[in-house]
Amino acid sequence: MIPYGRHSINDDDIAAVVAALKSDWLTTGPLVEKFELELEKVVGAPCITVTSGTAALHCAYAAIGLEPGDEVITPPITFIATQATAALFGAKIVFADVQPDTANVDPMAVEAAITPQTKAIVAVDFAGHPTDLDELRAIADKHKVFLIEDAAHAIGSTYKNRPVGSIADITTFSFFPTKNMTTGEGGAVASIYPELLEKAKRFSRQGLVRNKDEFIITSEGRWHQEVHEFGLNYRLPDVLCALGISQLSRLHTFKSRRREIFQKYQKALSGLCGVTLPAERDYVSSNWHLYPIQVPAEKRESIFNDLVANGIGVQVNYIPAYWHPVFKKLGHKRGEFPISDDFYAREISLPMWVGVDKLSDDYFDLLRTILVDQRELK
Ligand SMILES: Cc1ncc(COP(=O)(O)O)c(C=O)c1O
Repeated sequence: MIPYGRHSINDDDIAAVVAALKSDWLTTGPLVEKFELELEKVVGAPCITVTSGTAALHCAYAAIGLEPGDEVITPPITFIATQATAALFGAKIVFADVQPDTANVDPMAVEAAITPQTKAIVAVDFAGHPTDLDELRAIADKHKVFLIEDAAHAIGSTYKNRPVGSIADITTFSFFPTKNMTTGEGGAVASIYPELLEKAKRFSRQGLVRNKDEFIITSEGRWHQEVHEFGLNYRLPDVLCALGISQLSRLHTFKSRRREIFQKYQKALSGLCGVTLPAERDYVSSNWHLYPIQVPAEKRESIFNDLVANGIGVQVNYIPAYWHPVFKKLGHKRGEFPISDDFYAREISLPMWVGVDKLSDDYFDLLRTILVDQRELK
């Protein structure tokens, strides 16, 4: 079975991890800062590392001081972590529908969803393709709300020649194995505002204040540290930072391989009746994390099953978040966001990972056959 996503680990990665294991620091050591500085060079803004993309989102919401009663605008086509971490602060999740070509949030829908309670717009770069950041930035500035970018899929992508990470107020990344680079589990928060990043960092490190100038308790000795607001432990260990540094040094190679595979798919699958291929807007360069195609809704399940039966690992990304029972309980009903619903009904993600382009012409022939008329294979 060809998986739909997979990590790429080489001997350098293994050597880096082994060296970290043999060092004095398994966690809270020098490789953490080193990885963060290397990340900054790639994403164009200072970063902190955390234990997952979910943790990164949780820290981002902590940094903006999200509270009960605040509203956060998000697209339905995303992994539930985008919403769950905001809901845990008591925020109300407000959905805005997506654009049909990219499945990224539609700025017009965002503008329509703004209320006096809106605290943040949270865009998701679906499949690696950056969102319409200039339009969202204008809306965020006009209404004085934060712009957060969930770039779990998009490290290494660029928008108008600017790296993802350097544009939104806060950008979050995931280093899960299927993503564009990996640390096993891991993530990062980037921010163009040092004070927001500092808040995210403090939240990720138990809320501990170590700077003596900020102490409220002044009677204690050199050992003292204190907590002003609660935080959690989301520290990424040195062992995983070692893997991250090594992976990051190959991110540009990963990106060219992913873009090559994207082009191969585009060429092999173009012109198939009823099949819509992903499109890249001319002002972005996507580090394609997924290769999402759309097929006729009534055939989606049988095509999916045929692909799996023929050893092609596929996935559907994503069930619209507001369909989850947790949102049903809050009064949401299917049909509220028709573009997201239609995208979901027709979506299948084909295998997309660095090694997948070793696949032969036979692979593309098989794909074409299944997509053209899956019944022939039954
Ligand atoms: C859009 C999006 N946001 C957030 C996450 C959460 O990342 P992690 O799995 O690293 O917690 C994911 C992971 O799949 C994701 O796809």
